[in-house]
Amino acid sequence: MKKVLVTGAAGQLGATLELNEYITIKTDLFQPGTNENITMLDITDEDQVKILLDNEKPDIIVHLAAMTNVDGCELNPDQAQLINVQGTVNLLNHFDGKFMLISSDYVFDGKDGPYREEDEVHPINVYGQTKLDAEEKVRECSNDWIILRTNVVWNIGGNFKASFADWVVEELKNNRKIQIVDDQWNNPTWTVDLSRVIGQLLHFDASGVYHYGSANILNRYKFASLIANVYELNDSLIEPITTKELNQPAKRPLKCGLITDKIKRDFNILSSKTHMDIKEAKMRTIQ
Ligand SMILES: NC(=O)c1ccc[n+]([C@@H]2O[C@H](COP(=O)([O-])OP(=O)(O)OC[C@H]3O[C@@H](n4cnc5c(N)ncnc54)[C@H](OP(=O)(O)O)[C@@H]3O)[C@@H](O)[C@H]2O)c1
Repeated sequence: MKKVLVTGAAGQLGATLELNEYITIKTDLFQPGTNENITMLDITDEDQVKILLDNEKPDIIVHLAAMTNVDGCELNPDQAQLINVQGTVNLLNHFDGKFMLISSDYVFDGKDGPYREEDEVHPINVYGQTKLDAEEKVRECSNDWIILRTNVVWNIGGNFKASFADWVVEELKNNRKIQIVDDQWNNPTWTVDLSRVIGQLLHFDASGVYHYGSANILNRYKFASLIANVYELNDSLIEPITTKELNQPAKRPLKCGLITDKIKRDFNILSSKTHMDIKEAKMRTIQ
């Protein structure tokens, strides 16, 4: 069995990721003792990275670790650069197997999405720029790589601080009004579905850039309303607003999302339907 080392494995996607065909070493910033299944690895510490890679000798790295708070990246660009770019370089410096980077539709400017793999990149915020810089380092330093771009990764019931879907459910359950932007378009992607796609790409020994997202391009307000409907919550508590009104530190690419024709054509990997994914997620949380 091949060995896969996963970075950022305690995060929203990493916590769901199951790669049954492989021996999996899960790593994250976790302090030892807080989670027995996770090995401590700070990707910004090159010595630590080298020692772990020398010891474990993985065949594959699935690189999820990142600073993902978009406004946080805007306010702390040096830290975003250190984690998202230098952290990636540190791994690449000490590894010559298959390298999979999970990247983002935020490498695009959101003027005319959804986007194909070959479309011109043009990030408009620090997070997007650091993800693009990491992509460039991967292409430059690795001979065997996959860049998998995805978008609006969500899960319900995982207790993650930044989980949009959990926040929507929680607020509506407590009868609180929420405001959600109706001018940011993406194809939201369930962590469980994305985990399946990562496994399939590795199974087929894919290489190059691939886009994956669900079959439905939705604005964030519509996505929240779908969650409310499946969870039988009061969707009239959701008020649409514009991104401009939110006035966040980082600019957002508005008309974004990812076209998934290439992954379908090359590997017959089909996008799941958001509505069905939310239903399945709900079933899992009540079991
Ligand atoms: N979430 C999305 O909508 C989305 C969309 C497109 C692409 N992606 C990409 O998908 C990947 C996974 O995203 P996610 O939603 O699972 O994000 P997440 O929940 O923020 O997980 C990222 C993990 O990386 C860890 N990390 C941060 N700095 C680290 C360091 N120096 N060394 C080791 N680990 C570190 C984080 O720990 P702390 O929490 O303690 O910082 C966290 O556990 C990321 O690369 C992200 O850019 C995400």
